[in-house]
Amino acid sequence: MSNKPDNYTVIGLQWGDEGKGKVVDALAERCRYVARFCGGANAGHTIVTNGQKYALHLIPSGVLHAGTVNVIGNGVAFNPRRAIEEIDALAERGTKLGPDNLRISSASHCVMPWHMLQDTLSESRLGEGKIGTTAQGIGPCYSDKAIRSTAVRTGDLVDADALRAKVRSIAAEKSKVYAAVYGAEEPLDGDAIAEEYVEYGRRLAPMIGNTGALLRGAVAAGERILFEGGQGSMLDVDHGTFPFVTSSSVTACGVPTGAGVPPQAPGRVIGVIKAYTSRVGAGPFPTEQDNEMGQYLRDRGNEYGTTTGRPRRCGWFDAVAVRYAAELSGVDELALSLLDVPAGLDEMKICVGYRIDGRSVGDLSDGADEAFSPDTMDRVECEYETLPGWSEDIGQCRRVEDLPEAARAYIRHIEQAVGRPVGVVSIGKDRRQTIFRGSLVAGEAT
Ligand code: IMP
Repeated sequence: MSNKPDNYTVIGLQWGDEGKGKVVDALAERCRYVARFCGGANAGHTIVTNGQKYALHLIPSGVLHAGTVNVIGNGVAFNPRRAIEEIDALAERGTKLGPDNLRISSASHCVMPWHMLQDTLSESRLGEGKIGTTAQGIGPCYSDKAIRSTAVRTGDLVDADALRAKVRSIAAEKSKVYAAVYGAEEPLDGDAIAEEYVEYGRRLAPMIGNTGALLRGAVAAGERILFEGGQGSMLDVDHGTFPFVTSSSVTACGVPTGAGVPPQAPGRVIGVIKAYTSRVGAGPFPTEQDNEMGQYLRDRGNEYGTTTGRPRRCGWFDAVAVRYAAELSGVDELALSLLDVPAGLDEMKICVGYRIDGRSVGDLSDGADEAFSPDTMDRVECEYETLPGWSEDIGQCRRVEDLPEAARAYIRHIEQAVGRPVGVVSIGKDRRQTIFRGSLVAGEAT
């Protein structure tokens, strides 16, 4: 195996919702496999093609390409009910999924009804201090994975008798815990949950298997894989704004563990960034604009959660946080999305440094007194660089050279501040509104 296989890894460098689905969809036609390695149905990946909109949560974003095998890796919190709903909805629209084009890791962990319940109970108990989760049971599912004795893996779904026994026993234990800790009055109905999941197992069995072996075989055979990240680097459980994070490893560092492949397998790492910043849920957000400007971005960018419908918090582009995330994942190229959204603003600001009590932190000129850490993000003051805005509608541009000079200058400043080249620019929702340049020009291998 060469040192860096000819694969792609597409991850978010902000707080999620960077437009990864569109970038994955655009690159998927050059790949044999599209594999998810983290997160679960908390993700919301939107693809628009021929005027049709697809909102995917659990199913990888390669599904709209014939000949692509979509893989749900072992690192995913797999909700079988949601997966079946998505499979059925795609079938109604003409995209049929089966063992030829969808494979689910038997080692992925199942989101059970009690995980959804616990997510909600725990958030209500936290009240004002809540994390603002998507209520998809993600944290409780991964915590059972770590506890082990109370976990159900997707491979367990295919052995009906063993599954029934396991589900009944865990449901009984959880009922006691929820009654004692949260005052839950109704015990869980272990028998009904067991039958529901036995049925999911029957339905999904042909697709469940050893996806790690499948992907390692692809690496050995030189078949190209695209690893599709969920959420964004600042939501990473280890490297994000803890505790206001999700519960899995969402950077490129999570690919080997979450997909069962060697450390070189991620290949070329593409970090997706929005032309501004958004965040949904609680937690620090230094460049947030809780004002008219934030509302302008929210309206024009339709910044409402794909999974929860919640309004997203919006603000200026934060190059300090993005540079940290790009360094962490060894990002090769940036994909800049939603560049059409800020059109009409008089000026554009890029955060290029933080200050805490007069000390400079993470200054991009490298003259910082202190290194950047997500742990101090709730206390920083931002230092901005201000650039002119543009008012033209750029949706019809097909080359970077067609963009207004102010938009090109904005791209150059982002490249300089983050220290990585922009290889993709997205200027609208449709597949055709994507400009490739650099090594990612359509059809070109890496
Ligand atoms: P959880 O992943 O549902 O536990 O939510 C934890 C935090 O991550 C919350 O702030 C969510 O809003 C955020 N989050 C989870 N998934 C996504 C996503 O796909 N996009 C944006 N934010 C997300």
